[in-house]
Amino acid sequence: MKQLKFINDTGEFTIHQPENINSLYFPLASEVGLKSAISPNLGGDAKIDQETFLLEPISIDNLHNNRSTRNFWIKNQNGEVASVTGNSAKQEAQKFSIDQEESQLTAGFMWQKLERHLKNLSLKAKVTSFIPHNENVEIMQVDITNTSDDTQTLTAYAAIPIFGRSADNIRDHRNVTSMLHRIKTTKSGVLVCPTMSFDERGHRVNHQIYYVLGFDESGQVPQAFYPTVESFIGKSGSFIQPAAIFNNEKGISAHAKINGREAMGAFRFAPFTLEAGQSKSFIILMGIENDEKNIDTISEKYRNLKTVQQSLTVTKSYWLNKVGVDFHTKEAEFDNFMKWVCFQPFLRRIFGCSFLPHHDYGRGGRGWRDLWQDCLSLLLMEPTEVRNMIINNYKGVRLDGTNATIIGQGEGEFLADRNGISRVWMDHALWPLITTKLYIDQTGDIDILMKEVSYFKDAHVKRGTAIDNLWSEDYGNKQRSTDNDIYTGSILEHLLIQHLTGFYEVGQHNIYRLRGADWNDALDMADENGESVAFTAAYAGNLMELAALIRLLESKTQTKSVEILEEIGLLLKNDTDIYEKVARKHQILDAYVKQCQHKVNGFKVQMSLSEIALNLIQKATWLRQHLQQKEWIDLNETEGWYNSYYDNNGRATDGYYKDKSHMMLTGQVFPIMNHVATDDQIHKIISSADHYLYRPEIGGYRLNTDFQEVKTDLGRMFGFAYGEKENGAVFSHMTVMYAYALYRRGFATKGWKALKALADTSLNFETSCIYPGIPEYFRTDGRGVYHYLTGAASWFMLTMVTEVFGVQGKSGDLVLYPKLLAEQFDNNGQTSIVVPFAGKNFHITYNNPHYKDFGDYVVASANCDNQPLNITDAAFVFLTKKQLELLNNENMHNITITLN
Ligand code: G1P
Repeated sequence: MKQLKFINDTGEFTIHQPENINSLYFPLASEVGLKSAISPNLGGDAKIDQETFLLEPISIDNLHNNRSTRNFWIKNQNGEVASVTGNSAKQEAQKFSIDQEESQLTAGFMWQKLERHLKNLSLKAKVTSFIPHNENVEIMQVDITNTSDDTQTLTAYAAIPIFGRSADNIRDHRNVTSMLHRIKTTKSGVLVCPTMSFDERGHRVNHQIYYVLGFDESGQVPQAFYPTVESFIGKSGSFIQPAAIFNNEKGISAHAKINGREAMGAFRFAPFTLEAGQSKSFIILMGIENDEKNIDTISEKYRNLKTVQQSLTVTKSYWLNKVGVDFHTKEAEFDNFMKWVCFQPFLRRIFGCSFLPHHDYGRGGRGWRDLWQDCLSLLLMEPTEVRNMIINNYKGVRLDGTNATIIGQGEGEFLADRNGISRVWMDHALWPLITTKLYIDQTGDIDILMKEVSYFKDAHVKRGTAIDNLWSEDYGNKQRSTDNDIYTGSILEHLLIQHLTGFYEVGQHNIYRLRGADWNDALDMADENGESVAFTAAYAGNLMELAALIRLLESKTQTKSVEILEEIGLLLKNDTDIYEKVARKHQILDAYVKQCQHKVNGFKVQMSLSEIALNLIQKATWLRQHLQQKEWIDLNETEGWYNSYYDNNGRATDGYYKDKSHMMLTGQVFPIMNHVATDDQIHKIISSADHYLYRPEIGGYRLNTDFQEVKTDLGRMFGFAYGEKENGAVFSHMTVMYAYALYRRGFATKGWKALKALADTSLNFETSCIYPGIPEYFRTDGRGVYHYLTGAASWFMLTMVTEVFGVQGKSGDLVLYPKLLAEQFDNNGQTSIVVPFAGKNFHITYNNPHYKDFGDYVVASANCDNQPLNITDAAFVFLTKKQLELLNNENMHNITITLN
């Protein structure tokens, strides 16, 4: 029997005995700040940001030991005790025996329900946990049912330790910071307001109040309180055997104050009686507010069971509605998996990369490339909201083509790196164009390129190689011109700067320098001489795309020329001889970056759009040829692949040496995606990837072969054990981009093979040990890790929508160009997708009566809302922007296409 089962088609699932897997955690969050991670034992934490943790910060490595989080206890008339979360010493001891209690977890977007049969007490317990989408309170509804034939008299206790401080104090100053706590009991719970936020760089007065409140189903408050950890666990007890409960400690009353102790949101309710079959519910509220009045408001509202239940219903539908995409293929499990994949970008927007137990990096927030890539999927779901996000994000670009790396809270807010560490990731300039192009494709809003925005400014100049000593906080974080005004330029100008500066920053092989790293953050030890062949190919593609957008701008707006910053002229020199000359390229770049170090004179010149486009095409064409001639490794008749990198000693990473083949997937993905690799080369790459990298049982294509070397001349990844993270794991993001690249070049069967292996491995709960969704990577034993918060989700969704189902925008028109395979059609020969486009909702059904594969079928007929559509090309169906405008926004529009 499968341990994890979907229960409907909205992604909701159940798992039997979930506490048997230590690494499971689930995200709960609101849109306004509170973020929780919750395990099947209700372990995990809850916080607003790095400084504001309600529950003790937890990492994956101690999640299994996390018995001191959310607990709720029941004691019967005989003094027998059980925890509804299974967190008692006795229940823990029964885990590996036949006495283990039955438990079941059910979950959907942002809510989970845990059911447990408390055998010893003949009770059934159900705990529903969620956070209303617009409020900073985590709600725990506990329902207790008497399953015995006799009446029982019971006592209930809630027990939630309140950490109430910064995650930085988890070890450093842990005890000292408890002295700051000012704890009080109120009628309904425990409030903690630390006097200060402890920070040796400057302590700050604290106003945040952390609280845990409790009510029974009729709004009755607790009878007694245990507001400190000491008063709850006693001198010799523990969180799984607390003295307060096992020793019948009396506790204290409401309106008491205790200073300077570890706080505990623990309290006891008045004893109650349950007849056979009867139930009683309790509500526990926990959260963070900066004003006690807000806590009163929350408490008034949610002490009522009906309100809690209504709020759960609203929360469920709020998140379900967010995901406006739905897939129907042959496999219902895959379709449900996709529901979670499409939800993951929302999770990453909320949780950043730091706030689930597998925290990737940082103290909250996301990095530059994640910021842009997460927009990809949001664009497919809510394009209008993304417009502003895109515009604002360009404010992070510096005039030297690099960008801010510390991203502030508000949209378009970028911060100077106070530590003065300059790190330039050479791939960063790539992602804004990819996202902006998708936006223009989806909406036709080419005018966005002419939108004027500011540039980011801090002390880092000359692409991170020098410091502007004249810059200070007073200057601000926006680039100024010599007359001290904030300098602005069009988004097109930002894109040109980003792409042209990179073209000149090459290493000894005339390949773009690796600098601090590229997409692979762990290639961080080759700043001097490292080069990224992989991302040179990506930039070649981007230069072509940018040229195409410029042409589109020209034709759609009848604009012949644009104003751009005079200095950019240096980078647009029309002398193709320079391309081969590394030293000359450096001179040009130096000359440019020197001119925009502190303030820029701000003069603009008029430039012809077609000339700029031509210039970019020349550069892209040269790059392609250069890569094809210098970086292709032709191993034999059937195998060959591109070199991916040069290390700090100028040596190529890929190829056959030291008696073995060395292959990296990244170096293949971008040449394929960007038309650097020829079709013949793609065939060879596929054979090689299948030979050296493919391991379907652990997710499919690994990131690289085992170099068996700690390559300190390339990056920390070689220090990781082989198969972990960036060193040869099946790293979902890159595998998905491999699939996307293959689809783009028409290799649908091979692209699907890569996607399918990821989905199958993830859904194989017995080995992946994760809830449905795509994890950042799969380990060598098939376990999915760093779950939920990964750029792979956006790309998976993008590939499914735009490539597999072929729902693509083309400057605002809708093109349906499916690359489907026979195996994806259900028993009726159908497959379908629900997807928004241009503000309308579409249900697009493909009929494939003869079960043909992409390549073998043509479009035989098509209609929209029963009106036939003209088919001008047998490969795809086309609806113009004008046709789309005639459709109303409210109804679901049905498009049916027959493939034959
Ligand atoms: C993570 C980072 C991403 C980086 C990647 C490879 O991937 O978030 O920025 O490019 O590692 O080092 P993710 O978790 O998005 O899959």
